[in-house]
Amino acid sequence: MGKLEIRIYPDKVLRKKALGVKRVGEKERQLASSMIETMRSANGVGLAAPQLGVSRRIIVVDDMENKNNNSPYVFFNPRIIKKKGRSTFCEGCLSVPDVTHDVVRAKSVVLEALDLKGDKVKMDTGGILARILQHEIDHLDGILFIDRVGFLKRKRILKEISTKVCVQL
Ligand code: NI
Repeated sequence: MGKLEIRIYPDKVLRKKALGVKRVGEKERQLASSMIETMRSANGVGLAAPQLGVSRRIIVVDDMENKNNNSPYVFFNPRIIKKKGRSTFCEGCLSVPDVTHDVVRAKSVVLEALDLKGDKVKMDTGGILARILQHEIDHLDGILFIDRVGFLKRKRILKEISTKVCVQL
């Protein structure tokens, strides 16, 4: 499949609730590898399938702080089953170019998902990885980071072009 086109706000697919993956097969693995390729070429550290026009519950996540063999992670049907604490961090999104803003999210999360083999995995994590997971899972529910910013602020930041350098999720 190779690199795919990233859908840009206000594309309607970004607002749809994505459907779960019934079985992790060859088709799903191919899509995941296209997602990784697209994320990397856009210099992002996370990407959700709806951002490529595919309304399925699949995310890919680069572990920025801890490069290891499992990174980037691919998660099918990811679910956050526990959240702890609060943290504020500046976010951007590949689907909302030139806009960045501080977003408050849980500081650490426990995630449940299926991996590339279709096996159930559980991950307990904090830091930037916890933030990326929350941002990408929001995409699966049609939620964008700009929705997590107050209404008036959102109106303003969508008009302004940000010059601040933030992580692109
Ligand atoms: Ni995003």
